[in-house]
Amino acid sequence: MGNVDLNEWKLFEEECKNCGNCDLRKGATNTVIYRGSLNAPLMVIGEAPGESEDLQGKPFVGRSGQLLQNLLASFGLSDENYHICNICKCRPPQNRRPTAEEIKACKRLLAKQFKLVGPKVILLCGSTAYEAFFNPPTKPRMGDVRGKFIEKNGILIMTTYHPAFLLRNPSSKVYMYDDVKLVVDKLKEMGLYDDKSQEKTR
Ligand code: URA
Repeated sequence: MGNVDLNEWKLFEEECKNCGNCDLRKGATNTVIYRGSLNAPLMVIGEAPGESEDLQGKPFVGRSGQLLQNLLASFGLSDENYHICNICKCRPPQNRRPTAEEIKACKRLLAKQFKLVGPKVILLCGSTAYEAFFNPPTKPRMGDVRGKFIEKNGILIMTTYHPAFLLRNPSSKVYMYDDVKLVVDKLKEMGLYDDKSQEKTR
């Protein structure tokens, strides 16, 4: 967990806003960089901004964001505990999936963001995030890759469903709940999160 130098962060934000590494910036209203904390132990990574995110300049603020937010809050997590962002920082037209080239073009900025924030645990939401991280030779089934930690360079990475998928398939919400619980338990075990909301109700 880094102690982000705010000047460095400002420079990073400027770099994101002036990015021309792919054409998505041209069609977007805002560059969507993050919401939450700059010094969070947990980084939550989705695919790319949708319409609400593009308009507000923040990730996961639309319907799928609400689902994600409710889930995180049910474990007592709030803005200081996570850093939420996306694989791509600009909205693809008609919310299409970002192309491999667009993902590649955005990767350098995500790597920089990752280095500045310094999370210890990552939650990847959906197959685009999973594929961008692990580059599997064939398209995996989410059911096969979710729910287990993979360690990469000392960071623990958990993959789960994308909340937009759960809006269409509510019966699968329980799986994402289980995956987030594993993440929260791991943060507690590592001494990186203390659920004060539970104490208040005791
Ligand atoms: N879907 C995503 O993957 N990210 C967002 O920020 C919003 C919807």
